[in-house]
Amino acid sequence: MLLLLWLAWKLRRSRQNILQSKRRLEDTVAKLHQARDEQREQMYFLHELLNVLPNPVFFKDREGKFIGCNQAFVNLTGVEQEELQGKTARDVLDGQLTEIAAATDRKVFDSLGQQYYESEVILPDGRKRYYGIMKDCFRRRDGSVGGVIGCFFDLTEIKETERKLERLFLVVEQANEAIVITDLEGSIVYCNPAFTRVTGYSQAEALGQNPRILKSGRQDEAFYQELWATITAGETWHGTFKNKRKDESLFDEQAVIFPVKNKAGAIINYAAVKRNVTKEKQLEDQLRLSQRMEAVGQLAAGVAHELNTPIGFVASNTESVKNYVAQFKQLIPLYREFVDKVVQTQPGLLPDELKRLREAEEDAHLDFILEDLDDLFAETEEGFERISQIVVKLREFSRVDHGDESGHYNINKAIETTLVVSRNEYKYVAEAETDLAADLPDIVCNSGEINQVLLNIIVNAAQAIKEQQRQDKGFIRIATDFDDQWVRCRISDDGPGMSEEVKEKIFHPFFTTKAVGTGTGLGLYISYDIIVNKHGGKLQVESSPGQGTTFIIYLPREKKSSEG
Ligand SMILES: Nc1ncnc2c1ncn2[C@@H]1O[C@H](COP(=O)(O)OP(=O)(O)OP(=O)(O)O)[C@@H](O)[C@H]1O
Ligand SMILES: [Mg+2]
Repeated sequence: MLLLLWLAWKLRRSRQNILQSKRRLEDTVAKLHQARDEQREQMYFLHELLNVLPNPVFFKDREGKFIGCNQAFVNLTGVEQEELQGKTARDVLDGQLTEIAAATDRKVFDSLGQQYYESEVILPDGRKRYYGIMKDCFRRRDGSVGGVIGCFFDLTEIKETERKLERLFLVVEQANEAIVITDLEGSIVYCNPAFTRVTGYSQAEALGQNPRILKSGRQDEAFYQELWATITAGETWHGTFKNKRKDESLFDEQAVIFPVKNKAGAIINYAAVKRNVTKEKQLEDQLRLSQRMEAVGQLAAGVAHELNTPIGFVASNTESVKNYVAQFKQLIPLYREFVDKVVQTQPGLLPDELKRLREAEEDAHLDFILEDLDDLFAETEEGFERISQIVVKLREFSRVDHGDESGHYNINKAIETTLVVSRNEYKYVAEAETDLAADLPDIVCNSGEINQVLLNIIVNAAQAIKEQQRQDKGFIRIATDFDDQWVRCRISDDGPGMSEEVKEKIFHPFFTTKAVGTGTGLGLYISYDIIVNKHGGKLQVESSPGQGTTFIIYLPREKKSSEG
């Protein structure tokens, strides 16, 4: 009985144990199930995570066989995930990508580090896209290298923008127009090679500077104020500058200056696009000058013509008056002789009449008049001589008698003519002296142009002397001589002279030391062109401060025809 009871107890214990074990087993199984579900859930999450990524991602084992990829990669390659697994890039993809892929895989494994490369990819629908591809190796839990993981970045838009920017940059860099960009304070932040070509300032020299380095002083403050007022108000300014290069020479540029605005409309920079118009401006000014010269010439010719007629009849009337007066003069001694005889032979006759006659003679200073008449007529004749000389010179100067063409012309005559025409310019400040070679040969030249050169140089000399505001008069000395080759003309003044710096630039167009609006700075430039280029001559200058100035014109006796 006791045994039976013990057996029954033992049996119950065993059953309880079995039940306990079963419950534990069931517990474990349930936990395992839960862990598996969780793992599946995680895998699913990771899978989903990869699939929602816009970047194509793939991973391969050490042999280069695909383990998996995301949906973006499927879209990129056109190969489904299942089809991809276990295959190499070479098996499923075509084209140059597979070569690059294999090479970079090797690099990843060799260096065990990241690799990056860029490539164009043709999508299954034939479109081209540009990708950056980043590759790295991934490791297993034990630390061993499991394979390679790669991720694509679509750079197509960035590349397109880059290309556009590059194109724009090349256009700006290669443009003929100078382009300058400044910040809001006016400091240069960019300038293109054309700017360097025109101004002489390299990019390194210009950056950080204010465009006022180009200021020539030929525009007043109001000009710049108007420019700044326009662009700071958000408007575009158009205009022409006379600016100064690094070497101090002047040039003209036509500019468009405008504010650069961001998308919000705020001004972030100022930009200028400028065209060098020095040549055009020079031609324009030359044309204007020659038109002016021509107008002056025409005016002079017109005045000379108009003067001719009245001078003619005033002169001939004066001649007649002189003849009449000569006759009166002959009568006067006769009538005086008659009166004297009457007084002597019949004293006391007509006393009142005689008295009135004597008084009238005294009141009229008749003796003085008789004496002065000759001088008056002599002076009047000299006056007429001078007037008709001026008229002749004016006509000569304005080329009415010569036409525009080249012909034989004597420089001595040119000098005399020009001195008469320009007398008003120098007569208050200087005496003109000439020392002209008597047998100076004629040369073939354009007389109008030569007169223009002489006038420029004489007027310059007069202006230079005038500038000194001295008490005494200066002199302008003009001498001519010649040898076998040249006819020379030296024009000297005892004015202020020129510094080396000024002397270097006097033949540059627009170079002037005279006040704004006074000189164009073209006089000597044009003179040089006429003497050197058009007549094959030379134009030299000798001058130093305090020593006066001498210009020497050389004209060839045989004109070298450069005009064709
Ligand atoms: N005789 C001179 N003495 C001193 N300086 C002179 C003399 N002649 C010319 N110059 C200098 O050379 C510069 C250029 O002369 P240029 O005749 O070309 O121009 P401009 O006289 O200034 O202007 P424009 O001739 O158009 O009236 C003058 O501004 C002056 O500085
Ligand atoms: Mg001048």
